[in-house]
Parts: sequence; structure tokens; C-alpha cells
Amino acid sequence: MSLFVGLITCTFWLAFAQEDGLPQSIKRGQEIYIANCASCHMPAGEGVEGAFPPLAKTAYLKNQKRAIGIVLNGQEGGITVNGKQYNVPMAALGHLSDKEIADVLNFVSNSWGNKNPVIKPAQVKAERK
Ligand code: HEC
Repeated sequence: MSLFVGLITCTFWLAFAQEDGLPQSIKRGQEIYIANCASCHMPAGEGVEGAFPPLAKTAYLKNQKRAIGIVLNGQEGGITVNGKQYNVPMAALGHLSDKEIADVLNFVSNSWGNKNPVIKPAQVKAERK
């Protein structure tokens, strides 16, 4: 009997622990990416030369605060990504929730050759003005 209870507890714990893990966040983030970012940054994050910078292998995701700020507040004034220049304003996407922004950034930060530590919704909240 105690083994049975132990198994049940373990199953619940695992289900709970997984719910907020990085793989789940990345999975949710993929849908948010397709709906909110892929039209410019392209489905495989390759961007459009001369217009929209790539997210694949970009260094801009290494600085988590800056990456969160770009999604919350937009980005303009020109930017150099992977040696190429871009200068088209990106609109703010601060209408997305803290969780949605964390999820979409976890997706782009860990796709197409990118690998970065997890971003938590609380970090997004801290950057809202
Ligand atoms: C309307 C087109 C558009 C959409 C939609 C868009 N972006 Fe951007 N994004 C841009 C442009 C243009 C720039 C460069 C701005 C500049 O020239 O200063 C940029 C820059 C960036 C950068 C920094 C540069 C780089 O390539 O690393 C990141 C990170 C980024 N966007 C992430 C996102 C994410 C995540 C989403 C979706 C939540 C998103 N963008 C939606 C157009 C867009």
C-alpha cells in the first residue's frame, strides 16, 4: 500500500515538475512565435536580409534583459546582427503576457543552433515599466 501511495505521489510530482520546465516552455513558445514573430523573423529564424534580422545564431539573446526589453518595448535605430546591418523599427509586443514572452524567448533562445538558460515570467515582469 505505501508503495502504491509513493508511486502516485511520485507521478503527481513528476507531472507538476514538468509543467514548468524548459521543454514545456519551448513547446508553448513555438506557437507564440509562429503567431507573433515568424512573419518577420521567418519560420526558421533566418530573417530577411536587409529588412528583418535573423534570430538563428544571434548574440542578442545572450543578454536576457535586453532580449526581454526588445519584445516588451520594440527595437529601433538600427542593429547589426551576424555582421549585417538592419534598420527597420520592430513594434513593441508588450501586450503578450509575462508567461507568453518568457515562453517565446525560451523557444527562440533554444532553437536553430541557439542555446541559452531559461527565462522565467518573473524576469519579464521585472522589466515592465
Ligand atoms: C513587424 C516585424 C517584426 C515582428 C513581428 C517581430 N520582430 Fe523582432 N525585429 C524586427 C526588426 C526590424 C528588428 C531590428 C530593429 C532595428 O533595426 O533596430 C528586430 C529585432 C529583434 C531582435 C534583436 C536582433 C536580433 O535579430 O537578434 C530580437 C531578439 C527580436 N527582434 C525578437 C523578436 C521576437 C521574439 C518577436 C516575436 C515575439 C519579434 N521579434 C517580432 C522585426 C520584427
